Amino acid sequence: MDTLIIREITAELMQKAGEIIRNGGVVAFPTETVYGLGASAYDDAAVKDIYKAKGRPSDNPLIVHIADVEDVEKVAREIPDSARELLKKFSPGPLTLILKKRHDISDTVTAGLDTVGVRIPSHPVAREFIRAAGVPIAAPSANLSGKPSPTTAEHVICDMQGRADAIICSGKSSVGVESTIIDMTGLVPTVLRPGGITPREIEEVCGSVLIDRHITENVMPEDTPKCPGMKYRHYAPDAEVIVVEGTREATAKKICELAEKADGKKVGVLGMDMADIGDMFISSGKNNKELASVLFGALRSFDESGIDTVFVQFCPDSGYGLAVKNRLYKSAGGNVIYTE
Ligand code: TXA
Ligand code: MG
Repeated sequence: MDTLIIREITAELMQKAGEIIRNGGVVAFPTETVYGLGASAYDDAAVKDIYKAKGRPSDNPLIVHIADVEDVEKVAREIPDSARELLKKFSPGPLTLILKKRHDISDTVTAGLDTVGVRIPSHPVAREFIRAAGVPIAAPSANLSGKPSPTTAEHVICDMQGRADAIICSGKSSVGVESTIIDMTGLVPTVLRPGGITPREIEEVCGSVLIDRHITENVMPEDTPKCPGMKYRHYAPDAEVIVVEGTREATAKKICELAEKADGKKVGVLGMDMADIGDMFISSGKNNKELASVLFGALRSFDESGIDTVFVQFCPDSGYGLAVKNRLYKSAGGNVIYTE
């Protein structure tokens, strides 16, 4: 398949991308979290092509993207007041709400569930593209299944050239990890996937919030999480990833020790201030918000450089800490070393 690479954001080219969607095509587009791989949420065959392009298991539903809050009625029904309040406060932005699905949304989008994830991205190019398409856009992250989510157009081209009809290129995704997913169909809002909007912020609006236990546990339990995607090994680079968790001083010391002992292996470090150890160092910035914005790109860069083992310095905090921890634990497949 020939993939149209759109490198310039003009009204004409956005119309062209919208037309590809209306004709049943698949288009990758930038958002503030990660790049998405979109098709019309009303077009069953086009949505099936997304699963095929990614190699994604068909039991893992997609999020539906709209440009404006008023369009939520086109996707969902029985929308509770608390959901409307969350939308008012945090949309457009890195938030996905799980709501009761409207019947005209393809069952392939929701993997047969009666619920649907709805998100209004804040990225201006995403919103222009969705408006040009004129339909709600079903889209997972635009990576090959199992690979880290793409945060630059180059990542998307690497994974999706020849698999998507078009790729809209824009700069780097600013948030860097996927949206916070909140299930609004139960009595109490429940965080199914942590992201840029924190449980504390949700609680301030809704009065209470639960956190799905699959987020906080470091083991993959046998039972099925509410968010089907959480059960798959994700965010996985080719390199072995080892997370070193604790205070800044203790983690830095531990990584230095481990890097020295890693004889014969090419060692990569993603951390704050250990630049002179290992074969490749990538700075994680000074807090978890900054770490989130570089994490997936760093994992891809280590692979490109043939790194065997990656040590990641992780110091929990109350902001992006939970979102980063969830992605790190998954890419490490449970390989976590705790220090003081
Ligand atoms: O930031 C994001 O959310 C990005 C950008 C492109 O918007 N999208 C994204 O999509 O991360 P994806 O497909 O990679 O992850 C969607 C997650 C999956 O874990 C899926 O299981 C869950 O959302 N999900 C989708 N619909 C659901 C539903 N009805 N109930 C529970 N979980 C759902
Ligand atoms: Mg994904």
